[in-house]
Amino acid sequence: MTGGSGRLGRRVLELLLAHGDNAIIATTRNPDSLAGLPDSRMEVRQADFEQAPRQLAAAFRGADRMLLISTDAVDRPGRRYEQANRAVEAAALAGVRHIVYTSLAGQVEDSPVLIARDHAKTEQALAASGMGYTALRNNLYTDFLPMSLSAAIASGQLFAAAGDGRAAYVTREDCAHAAAAALRSGFDGTRQLEITGPAAVSYAELAALASELSGTEVVVVSLEADALIAGMVRSGLPEPVARLMASFDAGMRRGLFAPVSGAVQELTGRTPMNVRSFLESHTDALGQR
Ligand SMILES: NC(=O)c1ccc[n+]([C@@H]2O[C@H](COP(=O)([O-])OP(=O)(O)OC[C@H]3O[C@@H](n4cnc5c(N)ncnc54)[C@H](OP(=O)(O)O)[C@@H]3O)[C@@H](O)[C@H]2O)c1
Repeated sequence: MTGGSGRLGRRVLELLLAHGDNAIIATTRNPDSLAGLPDSRMEVRQADFEQAPRQLAAAFRGADRMLLISTDAVDRPGRRYEQANRAVEAAALAGVRHIVYTSLAGQVEDSPVLIARDHAKTEQALAASGMGYTALRNNLYTDFLPMSLSAAIASGQLFAAAGDGRAAYVTREDCAHAAAAALRSGFDGTRQLEITGPAAVSYAELAALASELSGTEVVVVSLEADALIAGMVRSGLPEPVARLMASFDAGMRRGLFAPVSGAVQELTGRTPMNVRSFLESHTDALGQR
């Protein structure tokens, strides 16, 4: 598996080690960061998707199935795809038979979500590679909600440009269980799985939950995308980040994040966590009360 030092990667590693049945090669840009996970079944190797495929192939050699964790390089459209594509090429050179890739929910040709295209192109590269693959189309992380809702609780206003759109938020923990299960499974065809929480939730429902859990009334302020971006920039967000965030709302407005699937349960046997339970276990991060 790649990306062993990231929050998702680290958790997947712990889950794989807990199962204890297979040898694991963990790659990361920073091998030192995995020194705290000593285990004789795990070999840590250095790999950076900025490296050429031949160099990366040496890091992947010996792997039969591979979890390819998408990088966080969203500074320039296309960069994340170029990185993933080098990793796919390298995996093929190294003799990997199946790749599990952390993709994004709501894949449509003309998605307004700014990072969607890189994921779509990576899925196309996987399809063209001749290897088997599982695209885990992860929905929006529930984990980011406490941060945005705490700001809404402080001001009493939840700004959104999603209309009545909904998202089937999924926790990083459920994504980690799904990724570990997909890697350990024997599936060797090609498939795309929507990785979602148990229900699709609107901004109105988020505001109601935030109000209930904080004891402070939070109302949704519905904006057009340009006004939302301008407001985020005024409050200090760099414009490219504001544009990216607003593009997720545009995706919600289009219904791209609304479909709910049973894939987490089917892959892992676990019921995915709902938004209410997640927020109830993070009330400190929400503030007030
Ligand atoms: N669905 C969502 O809402 C959502 C939200 C945030 C992120 N994501 C995606 O899910 C991924 C994992 O999430 P996370 O929470 O674990 O993010 P994170 O903690 O920010 O981790 C970033 C990951 O990207 C890897 N990476 C960055 N640059 C790389 C490079 N040049 N070569 C190889 N790997 C590189 C890191 O690996 P090392 O540090 O080990 O090299 C690490 O695993 C993110 O990278 C992003 O693609 C999805």
